[in-house]
Amino acid sequence: MKLIVIGAEGTIGTAVCNELAARHEIIKVGRNSGDIHADIADRESLEAMYRETGKVDAVVSAVGSVHFAPLTEFTEEQFMLGLTNKVMGQVNVVLAGIDYVTDGGSFTLTSGVLDRDPIRSGTGAATANGALGGFVVGAAIEMPRGLRINVVSPGLLQASAKKYEGFFPGHEPVSSERVGLAFAKSVEGAITGQVIIVE
Ligand SMILES: NC(=O)c1ccc[n+]([C@@H]2O[C@H](COP(=O)([O-])OP(=O)(O)OC[C@H]3O[C@@H](n4cnc5c(N)ncnc54)[C@H](OP(=O)(O)O)[C@@H]3O)[C@@H](O)[C@H]2O)c1
Repeated sequence: MKLIVIGAEGTIGTAVCNELAARHEIIKVGRNSGDIHADIADRESLEAMYRETGKVDAVVSAVGSVHFAPLTEFTEEQFMLGLTNKVMGQVNVVLAGIDYVTDGGSFTLTSGVLDRDPIRSGTGAATANGALGGFVVGAAIEMPRGLRINVVSPGLLQASAKKYEGFFPGHEPVSSERVGLAFAKSVEGAITGQVIIVE
């Protein structure tokens, strides 16, 4: 298969590429990294990305920014980051890409653990993650040409545990290998409309 991986050089994107690169051709995308540059916050740059790649068999999005802050200190603008970037950015990866994915191909998005196992200061992330779960459930039944769509919802990765030290008390970090397998299940398997939990 020919795959786009947006965020390919990030922590989750690396896990995806390590699992899938031996079996598939991967086009890596980032704002400043990868083979092609695009920003999920900019719909036009996503359209330009798809024009450059042409038809692909699968699209993986392993990106999305959210703001972390105590609930009572959140500004509307900070809260909107999760909704405009992590949610709408990944929704636009799908909306801009439908005509570029071959029949029976797939989109796989990324959410995270915080809408089912919350931490302090994580409301923005929890809200975005829940919205992404709703999006794939709703979109799956309307996808044309047998296209599939899922979202992978990983726990804190072992590779990120140091970076978030102290923020996830009691959480058991998950391996990059298991996260990579969850993406393989979506890209190479047959499921659709699923939130694929890794914990
Ligand atoms: N790490 C974890 O433990 C974990 C667990 C659960 C969920 N998640 C979620 O997974 C997503 C990715 O997390 P991560 O830890 O892998 O992040 P990361 O290590 O910071 O990597 C993000 C990657 O995406 C690219 N990127 C960032 N913003 C972009 C944009 N607007 N458009 C296109 N590319 C962009 C970056 O490259 P450029 O700088 O070149 O753009 C980078 O390669 C986030 O939504 C996060 O909430 C992470």
